Amino acid sequence: MIRIAIMASGNGSNAQALIDKAQSLANIEIAAIISDHDKSYVVKRAELTKTPCIVAEKTGTQDEHEDIILNILKDLNIDWIFLAGYMRILSEDFVEKYPNKIINIHPSLLPFFPGKNSYEDAFEAKLPKSGITIHYVDEGVDSGEIIIQESFERLEEDTIEDFKARGLEVEHRLYPQILEWVNDGKL
Ligand code: GRF
Repeated sequence: MIRIAIMASGNGSNAQALIDKAQSLANIEIAAIISDHDKSYVVKRAELTKTPCIVAEKTGTQDEHEDIILNILKDLNIDWIFLAGYMRILSEDFVEKYPNKIINIHPSLLPFFPGKNSYEDAFEAKLPKSGITIHYVDEGVDSGEIIIQESFERLEEDTIEDFKARGLEVEHRLYPQILEWVNDGKL
C-alpha cells in the first residue's frame, strides 16, 4: 500500500475529498491526518470518517515542531504527504526529507497570487479567470514544480463567496485526481 499523510489546519474539505476518493483506490491508504489545530474541523472529519488523526499543536520553535511531525511521519512509514490547507511553510530541512513526495493545492493560477488569501487577492484583481494549482512543495512559498492547473471563470456579478465556491468545486475534483495518479504510479 502507498501510505499517505494529509496535513491540514482548518476546515478540511480537501482532506474530505481525498478520504472519499481513497475508498475506491486499491493501492492507497490514508494512514493519518495530521493537524496543527486541535479545534479544526478537519479533526472532526477524521473522527467522522474513522481516519487516524494526530494533532501536533505548535510548541517551541519551528524546528522542534517539525521534528515532532517528522517523527510521526517516520513512525507511520509515510510515502506521500498531501498538504490540504496546512497553514505553515515547511522548512528546507523538512522538504528535503521527502523530495518530490510533498504536494500542495493552491487556489490561484501560480505564479500569480501565492501565499495566503489567494481567493481574495484573485477576486480583487477582477481578471476574467482564476484557477487552481497543484504543485510539488519546495522550500519556497508556493514555488515548487507545477503538476496541474485548471482555470475557472470569475464572473462580473460574482460575490467572493460565489467565486470561492466555483474554485472549491475544482479543488475537490482535481486533488482526488492527483491521488489517483499516485495510486496508478503516474507521479
Ligand atoms: C483551500 O482553498 C486550499 O487550496 C488552500 O487552503 C484551502 C483549504 O480549504 N491551500 P479546506 O481546509 O481544504 O476546506
